[in-house]
Amino acid sequence: MQPIYLDYNASTPIAPAVAAAMRPFLDEAFGNPSSGHWASVPAKVALEQARGQVAALLGAAPDEIVFTSGGSEANNLAIKGTFFALNRKGAHIVTSAVEHPAVLAPCRFLEWLGAVVTYLPVDSTGRVDPEDVRRAITPQTVLISIMHANNEVGTIQPIEEIGAIAREHEIRFHTDAAQSVGKIPTKVGELGGDLLSIAGHKLYAPKGVGALYVRGGLELEPLIHGAGHERGRRAGTESALLAIGLGTACEIAADLATMARIAALRDRFWATLQDRFGDHVALNGHATERLPNTLNVSFVGGIGTDMLEQLNGVAASTGSACHSGRIELSPVLAAMGVPERIGMGALRFSLGRDTTADEIDQVIERLSAIVSA
Ligand SMILES: Cc1ncc(COP(=O)(O)O)c(C=O)c1O
Repeated sequence: MQPIYLDYNASTPIAPAVAAAMRPFLDEAFGNPSSGHWASVPAKVALEQARGQVAALLGAAPDEIVFTSGGSEANNLAIKGTFFALNRKGAHIVTSAVEHPAVLAPCRFLEWLGAVVTYLPVDSTGRVDPEDVRRAITPQTVLISIMHANNEVGTIQPIEEIGAIAREHEIRFHTDAAQSVGKIPTKVGELGGDLLSIAGHKLYAPKGVGALYVRGGLELEPLIHGAGHERGRRAGTESALLAIGLGTACEIAADLATMARIAALRDRFWATLQDRFGDHVALNGHATERLPNTLNVSFVGGIGTDMLEQLNGVAASTGSACHSGRIELSPVLAAMGVPERIGMGALRFSLGRDTTADEIDQVIERLSAIVSA
């Protein structure tokens, strides 16, 4: 059977134009961007060009972009960097129960160091109520960190409203946009955040590169101390190779036109599943406030991991994971109050630029063969 990739929220292939832009930095342009001689010039130029490309996608200034090793590091820098810089003012952080582990784990680590963290609940669609954010704020709150869009169900948070509440209370606001950049608009001016995380491999750039938008003038303690790279925010000789990969991907991502095609494919996929399986299928996530490429669907009474195995070469994800020999519901579905009988049968299909209508048809046929309606 033909392998079919529907796991673009897990990772994307490197776009050909991205690989082409990176090529010279594999072959010849090896200089250290910080050196003062000819060999540094191509690297220095590429690094700053890339910074401009990332900034343009976000509507930010180039000097507000810090290159990182990916989304996890960007989240860690935003959260721990804020705590280390501001904990003399207060040590309270507000986040949500459905964040990626790259937000939840740094928060738990900071609890170990004395921080107090509020994990806000979500409704059955996976959304945070902005009024819950307002109610959670205390005089000690130094950071609100709420993701832009969820990786499992695709639900988009009311970021503008949360950002406005943060501004009203003069509290720093971070959003993990690893899943939303390149799929929906992510201009920082419109979202209203102070810190925003990007992961390269979710938008057709390589793994190992990401970025953190840091609003101009923000005090942030680096996680990696050393020389003054990245304007003192992250030490270590910069990789022009990875930076130009991310920059080129950001330039391509600015054109959201392909997302309309992907959303149409995704919607037809869901409509066909409803036709075929009726009450045996349920949508997880918000019906409309959702990433255009994401379809998280439960086959009631099924076991996602078993179904995935039977789907013969379809790369997708499940809403459950095996912990100590026991299959458990994902924390995201659990926080949404999805009952076990439904949540255990969850499959996440995430479409991308290379997804074809024929692939979706084939997946529907393979599902029909294993699911009894
Ligand atoms: C929402 C979200 N945040 C952060 C990350 C981590 O990004 P990276 O894999 O680049 O460290 C991911 C990756 O799955 C993600 O989906």
